[in-house]
Amino acid sequence: MSLLQLMGVTKRFGGLVAVNDVSLEIASGQLVGIVGPNGSGKTTLFNVISGVFFPEEGRVFFDGQDITRLPSYKRAPMGIGRTFQIPRPFGSATVRENVAVGAMFGTLGHQLNVNKSLKIADDIIEKVGLADHRNKLAGMLTPVEKKLMEIARALAMKPKLLMMDEAMAGMHPNDIDQMVNFIKKITQEESLAVVAMVEHIMRAVTGMAEKVIVLHQGSKLVDAPTKEALQDERVMEVYFGKSVEAL
Ligand SMILES: Nc1ncnc2c1ncn2[C@@H]1O[C@H](COP(=O)(O)OP(=O)(O)O)[C@@H](O)[C@H]1O
Ligand SMILES: [Mg+2]
Repeated sequence: MSLLQLMGVTKRFGGLVAVNDVSLEIASGQLVGIVGPNGSGKTTLFNVISGVFFPEEGRVFFDGQDITRLPSYKRAPMGIGRTFQIPRPFGSATVRENVAVGAMFGTLGHQLNVNKSLKIADDIIEKVGLADHRNKLAGMLTPVEKKLMEIARALAMKPKLLMMDEAMAGMHPNDIDQMVNFIKKITQEESLAVVAMVEHIMRAVTGMAEKVIVLHQGSKLVDAPTKEALQDERVMEVYFGKSVEAL
């Protein structure tokens, strides 16, 4: 059984179809890249999966349950974690406190007190390489450090599914490689399914994803093993702006 299954999901904003009849499946522990040009519906798809928006059509299943209309605050404890494309940390709290909040809202939340949450936070902060910054106010971090903190916050939730919304944008290639290795390792250790949506950073996608789903104007264009997907002519057309009339 898949961890996540979408069946014919459509999300509209007025007349605009942001996600158009998308079906997909993600298995437990699978690393999936969701890519596509700006405006192709990636963030909206994540919002539908995390419950920020409900779709007009279709169904979303997670861990065998229909969660199509489940409010988002009930999804995080089930194991759906995410980062935001635009990080929104609590700027006047420390890095440690921000990450601990992630732990409290995650799958272990009901069994954690403040000290246990801080312990999980310390462990993850160390793993993502932010140990030197743990007592800094989040508002003082550089943009890249904020992205790392977002990843730490999502990981502290101990999710079964981690959706990263351009979490590696702006990072140095060396840091991306390091992050890719870290995510791969943690996926194996904790059998976490990771959906990394990395639009411009093909390096991260090819280094990490087992399969790639390509969105184009809200529709799913390609869903295939990474190598095959990246050699697909239609993907080249989407990325290099040629006509896709032929589809
Ligand atoms: N909250 C919203 N209200 C209205 N339109 C939106 C909203 N969010 C996204 N859109 C529109 O939906 C389309 C897909 O956007 P988005 O999901 O952000 O794409 P991506 O993340 O792939 O860049 C775009 O045309 C965008 O303008
Ligand atoms: Mg986006």
